[in-house]
Amino acid sequence: MNQPTEQAIELIRQAQRIAALSGAGISTEAGIPDFRGPQGLWNNLELLELMSARGFRRDPAAFYRATLKLLPNVTQAQPTDAHRLLARLEAEGKLIGVITQNIDGLHQAAGSQRVYEIHGTMQTGHCLQCGARYQMMPLYQELERGLMPPPLCSHCQGPIKPDVVLFDELLPVDVWQQAERTVRQCDLLLVFGSSLVVYPAAGLPQIALEHQAKLIIVNLEETNYDAQADVVLHSKLGEFARTALAQL
Ligand code: APR
Repeated sequence: MNQPTEQAIELIRQAQRIAALSGAGISTEAGIPDFRGPQGLWNNLELLELMSARGFRRDPAAFYRATLKLLPNVTQAQPTDAHRLLARLEAEGKLIGVITQNIDGLHQAAGSQRVYEIHGTMQTGHCLQCGARYQMMPLYQELERGLMPPPLCSHCQGPIKPDVVLFDELLPVDVWQQAERTVRQCDLLLVFGSSLVVYPAAGLPQIALEHQAKLIIVNLEETNYDAQADVVLHSKLGEFARTALAQL
């Protein structure tokens, strides 16, 4: 086992109030593409326009066609070993919360309870016209089976929008406040699979450091916080998680 991995596992062993910040990189091994990695979704500029609230209102069908293309595995994706590692740390009383930028629901599927989805979730949705609430996976499965998008409200026929925070939308304030509080209280922040370029999430490591927390970054590519981290691992999260699960 290499030095940084050993150091990271020792810091996790010693920590009592771990917080985790996850990005798309924790779900790529579940078949869900990230945004800025080599095969990142944002390499396709048309999608950036589509994945906005304005784009959704203008053409909800195109939004659904795009998300189905982007997230072909979203209805079948299973949690990875990294999701399982975080769920186990919480079950052992060592982890006080997961702040995720992901909308795939895989942390909850792995058993994590305290999950702060600061970019929302695609697991639920609501009608833009009457506000009726929906579970989205059954609707995505119907779309995968060829139902014409967009799914329409069974009450008023309005378009159903997933509860994801799109580019020109505000983060859910209460969730953000819980996320900030969790990072202020932690003694170790784990950054798993994020390029740390999108704020305010990318500001969380700074808050952790200001509160004397240790910082571990596991990310395939460099991030702006690598120099300030106690341990940096530019390796696959699955590998790290399997080693940590075996050692802890
Ligand atoms: N193991 C470790 N790191 C990985 C893995 C892996 N298996 N796969 C990808 N990565 C790394 C990539 O190298 C990349 O640096 O994960 C990082 C993912 O970064 P982004 O694609 O930028 O995703 P994220 O940081 O979550 O983006 C934040 O931007 O577009 C918005 O709303 C979107 O929530 C997203 C936000």
